[in-house]
Amino acid sequence: MDRYAVIGHPIKHSKSPQIHAAFARQTKQEMEYKPLLAPLDGFADTVRAFRDEGGRGANVTVPFKLQACSLSTRLTERARAAGAVNTLTFEGDVIVGDNTDGAGLVRDLANNLACPLAGSHILLLGAGGAARGVILPLLLARPAVLTITNRTVERAYELRALFADRAGGTQLTAGGYDDLEGWSFDLVINATSASLENQLPPIPESVFAPGALAYDLMYGKGVTPFLAAARSAGCDLIADGLGMLVEQAAESFALWRGVRPDSARVLARMRRKQAFTR
Ligand code: ATR
Repeated sequence: MDRYAVIGHPIKHSKSPQIHAAFARQTKQEMEYKPLLAPLDGFADTVRAFRDEGGRGANVTVPFKLQACSLSTRLTERARAAGAVNTLTFEGDVIVGDNTDGAGLVRDLANNLACPLAGSHILLLGAGGAARGVILPLLLARPAVLTITNRTVERAYELRALFADRAGGTQLTAGGYDDLEGWSFDLVINATSASLENQLPPIPESVFAPGALAYDLMYGKGVTPFLAAARSAGCDLIADGLGMLVEQAAESFALWRGVRPDSARVLARMRRKQAFTR
């Protein structure tokens, strides 16, 4: 049986084994997918041991996505752009590193949330690893505007510079929260880690255009302060990152197995379960 794993520290909380098991059942794939705890100082050894025992591929989660990037002997374009890897595929001695996070976000927005991206005005909050990982896939969806805003403004400028030559027809801008006054967007994505500490990036209410979607990359935290702020600003379309989680898993699954699972069905079931357990 083909073996896969999700490697992280901690790893017990991961929903990936449950998601991949559902995909495997749906598509009748003979495979095993397990959580694998790597010691904080032993990521590379854990990956190599798993591969040497016959592992075919692995997902990588916190805090190892940067190490996975260094460990990869070949990187896909989107992994290089993200500077991080969440999907490893073992091909003999070659370790292929890919990043399906941004593509997962774009698929969730386009397919599950019916959010048109082409020609839209998008605001991205944050300039850390999570933000960097979604910029290229967002640009490839050809929005009219993509504005990167961060508390430490220099980091937003750095990301703008990093992606300037990939912007195509998109107006790619960067700045601080103060610069947002008076501007509004069709889609506001929270890629900061503020929700983890129950905090809110200081965005003016005006950033939500009528009919805008507010999207928090965080999931499992209920209505975060960001989503609550969006609601009180009159924004009635809000989403957490559960859809992105399921869609990035579907991207990895399709890469490994050559079949695309019905991710929307798995997501719908997880949302029903979440509603009952909250
Ligand atoms: P991740 O990998 O989750 O992106 P990170 O690289 O540490 O983590 O980046 C965290 C991001 O959240 C940064 O953009 C950070 O802003 P700074 O660069 O100014 O530190 C942002 N962030 C964290 N807490 C925040 C808060 N309370 N308000 C606004 N932004 C916050």
